[in-house]
Amino acid sequence: MSDAHTHAPPDFDAAFRAKFRELLEWRRDVREFRIDPISDGMFERLVEIACLAPSVGLSQPWRFVLVDDPDRREAVRRSFEACNQEALQCQRGERAMLYARLKLAGLNQAPVQFAVYADQETEQGHLLGRRTMPETLMYSAVAAVQTMWLAAQIEGLGLGWVSIINPEAVDAALLVPESWRFVGYFCLGYPAHPDDVPALQRAGWEHRHDFSEFITRR
Ligand SMILES: Cc1cc2nc3c(=O)[nH]c(=O)nc-3n(C[C@H](O)[C@H](O)[C@H](O)COP(=O)(O)O)c2cc1C
Repeated sequence: MSDAHTHAPPDFDAAFRAKFRELLEWRRDVREFRIDPISDGMFERLVEIACLAPSVGLSQPWRFVLVDDPDRREAVRRSFEACNQEALQCQRGERAMLYARLKLAGLNQAPVQFAVYADQETEQGHLLGRRTMPETLMYSAVAAVQTMWLAAQIEGLGLGWVSIINPEAVDAALLVPESWRFVGYFCLGYPAHPDDVPALQRAGWEHRHDFSEFITRR
């Protein structure tokens, strides 16, 4: 079962590299959407690209649940509202005031909404790489999300990750199999205000630190 490769890898030239960096700089977590729908087949195209992501043992454990049903969306929105209120109670003083002003999900406007799960029992990949680290299934699903995030940005679309939510409430609303573990809930659509600075940085909540802080040498 050999897959002989005769063609050379593409040359990612300086112009491409500069564009790639721009893509990374402009990729945003989006919480404010225009209500315009996205084109037919776009979601499927983005999922197809997401499936090029790396996965442990080539297990492709990611599962995408597209949520169109208004009642199911409402159940998710209610979970977000409740969790966001609880999160606010955990903040104190000025931080609490700032938190209360943040917009942390676009669940009211986003035309496309979906949940991502990782199937903990998939036989694909034949267990390779995940015997001692079953969490690699979750990491793989996150790799797919990041790939989709970039692909969406290229299309001028924004993706917003909603984790201020009760996974069990989402599982119940979406009737997913027991073996699927919740990764996140996502809003997709055209961003109302494209920006190259993270919303949390613009709001004064947090700022990006310099990469050198994240390197340790031993
Ligand atoms: C695992 C994960 C969970 C997140 N959950 C939320 C969320 O619930 N609400 C929110 O507004 N942003 C959420 N975000 C987005 C981050 O706040 C955002 O990525 C960060 O502020 C940097 O902004 P940027 O993505 O626009 O660069 C999440 C991001 C990740 C990676």
